This record gives sequence, C-alpha cells and structure tokens, in this order.
Amino acid sequence: MAAIDSERQAAIDDRLQAGLLEWYGVQGRDLPWRRTSDPYAVLVSEVMLQQTQVSRVVPRFEAWLERWPTADDLAAAPAAEVLAEWSGLGYNSRALRLHATAKAVAEQGWPDDEAGLRALPGIGPYTAAAVTAFALRRPAAAVDTNQQRVLDRWDGAAGRTAVEVRRRALEFVPVDAPDAWNHALMDLGATICTARTARCDACPVASDCASAGLVDPAAERALRRASRQAVPFESTPRFVRGRIVAALVEHGEIALPALAAALPAGITAERIDGALSGLVRDGLVVRAGDALTLPT
Ligand code: ADE
Repeated sequence: MAAIDSERQAAIDDRLQAGLLEWYGVQGRDLPWRRTSDPYAVLVSEVMLQQTQVSRVVPRFEAWLERWPTADDLAAAPAAEVLAEWSGLGYNSRALRLHATAKAVAEQGWPDDEAGLRALPGIGPYTAAAVTAFALRRPAAAVDTNQQRVLDRWDGAAGRTAVEVRRRALEFVPVDAPDAWNHALMDLGATICTARTARCDACPVASDCASAGLVDPAAERALRRASRQAVPFESTPRFVRGRIVAALVEHGEIALPALAAALPAGITAERIDGALSGLVRDGLVVRAGDALTLPT
C-alpha cells in the first residue's frame, strides 16, 4: 500500500514539476537579476527582496550595481555610504550583512557550493540556497514564504516546519534547471497562488494540487498568526541584534557598559552578550576594548 502511495505521489510530483516549468517558460517574470549568473548581483537582489517588493527593488538593484558593480567595489566602500545607499530598503543590519559578505568574498573569493556560501559571514540558509540555485546553477531550494505556501497547498499540509518544507522542496528541484524551478515556484506564489487568494482556475497545476478549490486564506492567516505568536519577535536573538545595530547607527560609537541603556528596557545582560558576540563574529560590529562601532 505504502509503495503504491509513494509511486502515485512520485507521478503527481513529476506532473507538478513539468507543468510548472512549462508555465514558467511562458509566464515567468523577466527581472534584471534573472538575466545574470553573477553571484554578487544575485546576492544583492536576494538581500533586497527579503523585505521589499519586487517593483521597488528593480530600480534600487540597478542603482546599487551601477555604484558598486562587484563585491570588491562594495567591500572597499565605507559602511556609512553603504547604509546611506540602503536607506528606505528597511533593516540596516541587512546592508551591513551584505557589506560583511562582500568583504569576505573580496578576500577569499566565491565558494563554489551551498555549504561554502553558508560559511560566509552575513549569509543565512535562504540566501545561500538562492545564490546556489540562481548563480551557481546547482540544485538547492530557496524556500521563501511564497514557495512554502505553494508547497504546503500542493501537499495539503499546512503548519509544517521550515526544515520539513525545505526537505520536501528539495525533492522537486530539477538538476538541470534549479534556477528556473525556484523562480517558477516564487512566481506562482506571487501571482496566482497568493496569500490573499488562490486563483485555482488560472493555475497550471491545479489538477495535481491537494488544495485546489479548497484554499481558505482566512484560516491560513489564523494558523500563521498563531504560530508567530508562539514566539514573539521581541524574544528572539534577531530582535536584540537588530536593536544593537540600530543603536550604533544612531550613536556612532557606544562604550560596552553603556550599551544596555541604549537598548529597549528589559533585555537581559545574557541576551545582550549573546547577540553582541554573534554580531562581532559575523563582522557586523567591531569591538576594540570597550568601544563598540560599526565596521568602516
Ligand atoms: N523574491 C525573492 N527572490 C526573488 C526572485 N529571485 N525573484 C522574484 N522574487 C523574489
């Protein structure tokens, strides 16, 4: 029984894969970062796209590459200029991460696989997978919220963890078209299978989707809200790291004993220590004795 089920699922997966790739060949969005396999350009686009919508990223991406066409150029720029060019794109810490990655690449060159990318400062699992698929053109699953939603709907499996979804996502990635595949899933999620509606009548793979005609966006929203509330953002290490970077952007330099007072009240010394060590390790904050600054 299980063997038949897995055979049936494999046939469904094959049709989902072929159907979506065919659709992408015709309907895929033509975006500037999709016309390059330069890892630096892909990295810049992905970091920008993490918090800003596609239409707003396009001009900013082009301006950024005109100003700093290579990782070496960005690495040589002062942090203050990098932050200024980033303004309006959200979270400053992302710009500093990008800067830290560029500096590492300027020294040691680009890694040639996903594990090497993950080992670079400033790069998380999503970004490493995206650069692997889009620039190195090697199999990887760049699972953002759009991809996760589409895959959850295909399988009729809401509420999976990010690790579970990433494992499932990898089963679909074609060896010969990892870039087209990841872009195709993102595009389906951004245009047809969106968080607000599921236009199953316009979907190229509805006949193999477990949720076709059954999607309830309000119920999905409630589930997402419930799982988000389980871990309030203010209790995460990312929150503390973000506040430390924001304080350094505001004050320029802060002496270690004064750091707690420059952060929102109520963060324990232990959490501050942990976040600060991570930032220093990643090259996002420089510590010289008791003086904390952003890198130059
Ligand atoms: N969101 C994240 N990465 C993207 C990409 N490469 N194209 C469009 N939207 C995206």
